[in-house]
Amino acid sequence: MAREIDRKGFLKAAVAGTASVAAASLLGGAVFAQDNEAETVNEFQGKKKFAGIGSVRNVTEDIYYIGASEKRTQLFENVYPIPRGVAYNSYVILDEKTALVDTVDRSVVGQFFENLIAVLGDRPLDYLIVDHMEPDHSSAISEVLVRYPEAKVVCTEAAAAMLNNFFACDISDRSVIVTEGDTLSTGKHTLTFVLAPMVHWPEVMMSYDDVSGILFSADAFGSFGALNGNLFADEVNFETEWLPDARRYYTNIVGKYGSNVQDVLAKAATVDIKMLCPTHGPVWRENLGWILDKYDKWSSYTPEEQAVMIVYGSVYGGTESAANMVAAQLSKKGIANVSVYDVSKSHVSELIAEAFRCSHIILASMTYNMGIFTPMKNFLLDLEAHNLQNRTFSLIENGSWSPAAADLMKEITDRLAGSRYAGEKVTFFSSPNNNTYEELNTLAVAVIDSLSGDGAEEAEAVENAAATRWVCTVCGYVYEGEELPEDYVCPICGVGADKFVKEEEE
Ligand code: FEO
Repeated sequence: MAREIDRKGFLKAAVAGTASVAAASLLGGAVFAQDNEAETVNEFQGKKKFAGIGSVRNVTEDIYYIGASEKRTQLFENVYPIPRGVAYNSYVILDEKTALVDTVDRSVVGQFFENLIAVLGDRPLDYLIVDHMEPDHSSAISEVLVRYPEAKVVCTEAAAAMLNNFFACDISDRSVIVTEGDTLSTGKHTLTFVLAPMVHWPEVMMSYDDVSGILFSADAFGSFGALNGNLFADEVNFETEWLPDARRYYTNIVGKYGSNVQDVLAKAATVDIKMLCPTHGPVWRENLGWILDKYDKWSSYTPEEQAVMIVYGSVYGGTESAANMVAAQLSKKGIANVSVYDVSKSHVSELIAEAFRCSHIILASMTYNMGIFTPMKNFLLDLEAHNLQNRTFSLIENGSWSPAAADLMKEITDRLAGSRYAGEKVTFFSSPNNNTYEELNTLAVAVIDSLSGDGAEEAEAVENAAATRWVCTVCGYVYEGEELPEDYVCPICGVGADKFVKEEEE
């Protein structure tokens, strides 16, 4: 193992910031011949009996996609609805040595092994590279190790410990523990390992292949959605059919760890990436700048669009009427694509994703047990848990005898960095009347005034919201806050505050 990137190099890359997008936009997409992909596998292995041959795809001439999709699971992580299914991606590098990059969820383990056997044929598996230990990518590891007893497991120290914790899988006699900048040659290919803590677990690393320019990016750049045979993002209508699920996937799964994602984007800017091979969703080989720009916005908590979402919580319809009134007033005044959500009906993961997309959020809640309507409170606390920042809020409250929801909602939105407010809170009793209509009209005008800015205010808010960053010199974890507490302990590697350095502005 050669260690080509030292810790200082890592930190220097990490502070390079959002230059990644500009750099990435210059990257061309590598195009590999796809004719006769299955035949290539057939000819290579001389195997025709494994069904896996039919679902394997070439990523390059010697790198194969062997993942699988499924549509049976209702809730990903037992939380997130996935009506379009989900893909668990895994890749094989056939070189002088063979390497398997990540495995799959237990739900598709049968297809995975068919694919693996089809690609490897009679060859041994030399390396299993574990970029991410979460069980949706590691459930097949134990069986891989039994089937391929010669395979070495390449992973971070944290991943090795997790393997043991999850699956009682002791790999101490066959592990190759790697860290930032370590490399592994399989012959023609050399993989460089890049730590990506909290994207989305602490043990995560990514693997960059210098020959193909592929970044095996673990969960980053992934999406909900089954692949339906189409492997590449340019083979589907990604922007119209996939983007909402890609956004929902990122914001709900990784959204809390924006600064860690920014660090990864900064590292991405330092290498020539031609393809992104995530562990879920399509592979990116064209237009990488587009998806990197989305990630830059989401991870910096910059609104993706100057747009308005209205979320209401209503029991008998009064609050719903008020929400629809203000939506109509916005529309009549020229605001397109206003989105309105019943907080009791829309899954909170969809609301989180929309909040990351929209610059302006109007919250309308009835008062419930002298508090916020429970589903609305749950949504707002989830927003806080996902670290949403830099949004403009407007508040509407309803109460049949003692309205209180607006101030209570503001207590939560005040805790989000960079929150601003458009208009005065609107209060009404039970059902909106003519007076309410006028107040909602005034509120709509205030929202439109706020929307009509050139974005400079939002950019300034993003800038001001950026907290001082303290970087763990051992694992790269980032703590944000003006002061690092003396007794602080790194949640990833367990070292104390003395191992953190304050990140200096350039
Ligand atoms: Fe797809 Fe974090 O696992």
